[in-house]
Amino acid sequence: MQIRESKKTDLHDLLDVERQAFGKEEGPVIVELVSGLFVDPTAKPLLSLIAVNNDRVIGHILFTKAHISLNKSVPAVLLAPLAVAPEAQGKGVGGKLVEEGLIMLSESEIALVFVLGHPDYYPRHGFKPAGKLGFEAPYPIPDEVADAWMVQELRPDIIGSVSGKVLCANVLNHPEYWR
Ligand SMILES: CC(C)(COP(=O)(O)OP(=O)(O)OC[C@H]1O[C@@H](n2cnc3c(N)ncnc32)[C@H](O)[C@@H]1OP(=O)(O)O)[C@@H](O)C(=O)NCCC(=O)NCCS
Repeated sequence: MQIRESKKTDLHDLLDVERQAFGKEEGPVIVELVSGLFVDPTAKPLLSLIAVNNDRVIGHILFTKAHISLNKSVPAVLLAPLAVAPEAQGKGVGGKLVEEGLIMLSESEIALVFVLGHPDYYPRHGFKPAGKLGFEAPYPIPDEVADAWMVQELRPDIIGSVSGKVLCANVLNHPEYWR
């Protein structure tokens, strides 16, 4: 399996993975989200990686630009979404996409990575609950799922020295993506 940055010609295949992974109900919403993020100037620079196996796209991860309201100079990104084709799930593909993405982002001087996701999954890859660490999500996260809003620092001593509300790309800035 190879992990590489996606090209324009991969768009159809990677949207197919999103559609399959998120299923009939959520799939179309996520396809629209990803299509929108690719053309949203406020999402850039973005990092879009695909996992390819035997010339087939089996996974996709997208990181888009974010910033902290009170500390706009701190370079940050938001991870959303992550998807692995149903038949390829549970084999480490999602984990590889996350890990490879974090390596590339740290090389590009990104300091903070945020995600709203499964609180049992992302901590395996270094994420911690972000609310307790002083980072407010773009929209309020209900207390009972507060741990789903997570952060990871890619440079030492950023967490603790920075706090505030996280502002995301325009296309992501709608309450339906934050439930
Ligand atoms: C979530 C997803 C990206 C994980 O990708 P993957 O390649 O299957 O994951 P990995 O193989 O790296 O890791 C598998 C482990 O993650 C766990 N895991 C998978 N989905 C999970 C979830 N929704 N919540 C908690 N843990 C999950 C598996 O149980 C497995 O645990 P184990 O190692 O103890 O057996 C994939 O299942 C997927 O595309 N799901 C549908 C879309 C989605 O929910 N995306 C995430 C949005 S935050």
